[in-house]
Amino acid sequence: MSDKTIIAFDMYGTLLSTDSIVKQLDTHVGAQASSISTLWRRYQLEYTWRLNSMHKYEDFSTVTRNSLRQALAEHDQQLPDSDIDTLLEAYDSLHTFPDVGPTLNRITNDPTLQAVIFSNGTKNMISNSVLHSPDLSQHASAFQDLVTVDDAKVYKPAPASYQHCARMVGKQPSQMNEIWLISCNAWDIVGARSAGLNAIWIDRAGKGWQDAALPGVKPTAIVRSLEQIMREIKGRQE
Ligand code: LAC
Repeated sequence: MSDKTIIAFDMYGTLLSTDSIVKQLDTHVGAQASSISTLWRRYQLEYTWRLNSMHKYEDFSTVTRNSLRQALAEHDQQLPDSDIDTLLEAYDSLHTFPDVGPTLNRITNDPTLQAVIFSNGTKNMISNSVLHSPDLSQHASAFQDLVTVDDAKVYKPAPASYQHCARMVGKQPSQMNEIWLISCNAWDIVGARSAGLNAIWIDRAGKGWQDAALPGVKPTAIVRSLEQIMREIKGRQE
């Protein structure tokens, strides 16, 4: 059992920017890159939620591959498997957002806090990113654990995925609020809050909270930069 406050980071779009994928796509599909990349991400998430609804499971690397194929097909594009492999490999070397490094350093220096990654990605995808992302690899030791839903075979935002995270970080069901999910994804925040976790939504674009899936469920805090999460968490630690 852990007596530390756990900071569980979502990975894609929160620690790692997927912008470079658009540039990679551009070399294969030109002007349609941005539209394909948006649809790819939409299908990637939709497929995870559909699989959850059907009580079925395909791992996130398969989901990511299938959703890319779907997005390409809807744009009347077809790429050879070797190009698809290259695009999927790009997921292993994404860049971090600039606020990631300083934040991880501060967490590492605080003995009351423990950082983990909590992602839909497979262990392979997460450890490849942590070891090969040019910026994140410098901070690999900041993470006490790499928690993946792949071991529970159910995607976020199902409650079982957050319960799995709690088990992996040594928290009892009565201690869910000792875990802080940090995510840019509103659906992840709503899922975490519904499961009893604290959750901070990172609003880098400054657009304000707009999620209407469950209008009564809000983030514990909203910040513009990861660098502000420490103040929110420390302010609420007893
Ligand atoms: C993750 C995706 C969903 O890292 O952002 O879990």
